[in-house]
Amino acid sequence: MGLNRLDGSRVDPHREERLHAGLPSPRDPEDRHHPSAGQLRLARLPIHFFAVAVTSFGLGVVAAPSLVDDLLDFFYQPWPLALTHTFTLGWITATMMGVMYRYVPALTKRQLRFPRLASLQLWLFIVGVAGMVVHLAIGRWIPTWLAAGVVVVSVALFALNMLPCLIPSWRRGVAETGMFAAVFYLLVAAVLGLLLALDKTLDFLGGSVITNLAGHAHLAALGWVSLTICAVSYRMIPAFLLPGVELPRAAMWQLYGLTVAVAGLGVALLGGIGGVPIWSVAVMLALLAYIVVLGGLVRNRRMPIDWTMRHALAGVVHLVLSTGLGLSLLRIDTGSALWNGVAGAYGVFGLLGWVTNFIIGMSYQLFPGFIVGLRVAAGWPRLSVAELSLPRYRPFVFFSLNAGVLLLTSGLIAAQVMLARLGAVSVAIGGLVYVTVTARTLSYAYRPSVPRAASHPLRVLPGGPSRP
Ligand code: HEM
Repeated sequence: MGLNRLDGSRVDPHREERLHAGLPSPRDPEDRHHPSAGQLRLARLPIHFFAVAVTSFGLGVVAAPSLVDDLLDFFYQPWPLALTHTFTLGWITATMMGVMYRYVPALTKRQLRFPRLASLQLWLFIVGVAGMVVHLAIGRWIPTWLAAGVVVVSVALFALNMLPCLIPSWRRGVAETGMFAAVFYLLVAAVLGLLLALDKTLDFLGGSVITNLAGHAHLAALGWVSLTICAVSYRMIPAFLLPGVELPRAAMWQLYGLTVAVAGLGVALLGGIGGVPIWSVAVMLALLAYIVVLGGLVRNRRMPIDWTMRHALAGVVHLVLSTGLGLSLLRIDTGSALWNGVAGAYGVFGLLGWVTNFIIGMSYQLFPGFIVGLRVAAGWPRLSVAELSLPRYRPFVFFSLNAGVLLLTSGLIAAQVMLARLGAVSVAIGGLVYVTVTARTLSYAYRPSVPRAASHPLRVLPGGPSRP
């Protein structure tokens, strides 16, 4: 039976459990009372990644409105390159690494092979990404590839901890299979990014700059980011909507299909061997299959649609729009103003529409969920997921982000600077509200204090009374 929270809502202990889906139980009495310093360091590691991610997102959305002219001019320029990596590495990759540090060992029931290297990996990531973004922005290639080398080392250390957990579980679970392939693609995309930067100094790569760039961008955005999202959502969305229900086998085939199609697209773009349209259609079909599987889950749901699901569904709409624009790029004259605008809108739909919606939605569940576990392990006063969240801002974030993405992409396609800027400002306002609210949530991983509403003497927590 559920308990009542102070706000009158029902506490469903099973739901709270599911929010930690597959995570190590913070309720283990041993862990709760005697966590070692190493265990606590490891438990806090995902939060450090989330803090990096949220900071990068804030910086990115603040900078974006002033870069709209550059984007309309030509997307391949110093500042757009820097902005792209603020989002792709600083915001998206940092969040995914944080989630995987917690999720992969729990899911595969294996310990990280090199836990001490994980903190080093975080620092190399911060230094490398900051160095890359700054030097891409000022157009200095030697420091850019030095920093890219640091990011590659950081990604290699990440893979060194993830792959020994994921390889033995390959093909056993949907999430494990998808994440295994995704980490592999991250490695490939990172090395390729380093080579592209080195090439500016040493000039050793063949092919055209734009197709090489497209090869790197698609291996990263589809192979690393989209595969991870598919894999994680197959695990998370049933946990939020359909507890106890098995995923259809089609989910595994969708992941295989996407993995192969991304490899084909990458090789076709980088090798200049033709077949790009065929592989693009294959990618599109694999992504459509994801939408079909997800649609089936949502139709059969037993729980109401909340803001997490609304973001996930809005992300799917943007994914469809992004895929459509991606295919239309094949039919527009490369280098024309329209091609440039559609390419920019394609990226915005993909990174801000699809991926950002997904991350924001999941973060409403995962970030506080992780902090609940961390505070129990640290022996700090317990807080519930609800107490760590400020849900009243969620509708504003949702509408401001999604309306902004639609205005920004329309402005880019129609080459209307004011419209595009208005969209970027709307994304920035929604983004900054999200950053502020999330920073407040994350802060409770760094301080034992409790929010004022949680100090009420009569409050009830799932799993027992709170400790003062
Ligand atoms: C992991 C480490 C990464 C490194 C070292 C890296 C490096 C680079 C470099 C050097 C370029 C410019 C290439 C050139 O001028 O020829 C570039 C472009 C690009 N990268 Fe990355 N990158 C990384 C990760 C990512 C990720 C994860 C994504 C997407 C999810 C991504 C998406 C892009 C895009 C879209 C461009 C083109 C941007 C534009 O033209 O404005 N990169 N990357």
